[in-house]
Amino acid sequence: MFSKTAQYYDIIYSFKDYQAETNRIVDIITREKRSIGNRLLDVACGTGLHLDYLSKYFEVEGLDLDEEMLSYARQRNPGTVFHHGDMTDFDLGVGFDVVICLFSSIGYVKTAERLRRAIMGMARHLVPGGVLIVEPWLTPENWHPGTVHAKLIDEPDLKIARINTSYVDGSLSYFDMHYLIGTPDGTDHYVERHELGLFTVEEMITAFEMAGLEVTYDQDGLMGRGLYIGRR
Ligand SMILES: C[S@@+](CC[C@H](N)C(=O)[O-])C[C@H]1O[C@@H](n2cnc3c(N)ncnc32)[C@H](O)[C@@H]1O
Repeated sequence: MFSKTAQYYDIIYSFKDYQAETNRIVDIITREKRSIGNRLLDVACGTGLHLDYLSKYFEVEGLDLDEEMLSYARQRNPGTVFHHGDMTDFDLGVGFDVVICLFSSIGYVKTAERLRRAIMGMARHLVPGGVLIVEPWLTPENWHPGTVHAKLIDEPDLKIARINTSYVDGSLSYFDMHYLIGTPDGTDHYVERHELGLFTVEEMITAFEMAGLEVTYDQDGLMGRGLYIGRR
């Protein structure tokens, strides 16, 4: 889904302050974690930006479905273990003190049934006293179909126009990201389809509880999308 544009991911999302987000995550972990170990798994780690900062505090590993994204994560974090896998069906055979899944990646599971499977799998990878932190996608009431969005990058040797219109089909949000990418070598057009489930707060909390976790919900979270914090 990010295969053609993974190389531009960091510049497109350069408005995000990964260092500040990491500081918040570390504070939450310090407050919530009861286990004594220090192992952290980032599920849907993308290009490994959070892991870069988190590796100063934890022994980190990452997992993602997209090989292209993983290749950038590996370049950024040499020496870190990365796994190619699907968050709805993974078994690394080892326990972590912290599992995180950030920047709405959980939405890509699309359905409530797959959401429960993903949270169950993440919880299964926690040692007793460990913490699961999930930053959700939007809720049904916060998704506005029929709106159009643009992101523009204007650098001397790189011009990107990314435009999309938002749609909904039941509880599935979807949009085609149209990218026009210009470099000194030429200009290309790509279209990427993104489909993310719109889960209610109740569905998220139920998924955590069904996985045997105590859960609290922070309505603001890292960037206004909320944050679920589960404890095993
Ligand atoms: C919006 S990016 C977030 C990346 C990173 N966590 C960050 O904060 O920059 C969403 C990521 O979810 C990954 N992803 C989507 N579906 C997945 C799945 N089923 N299992 C694992 N990773 C998945 C994508 O490949 C992509 O890297």
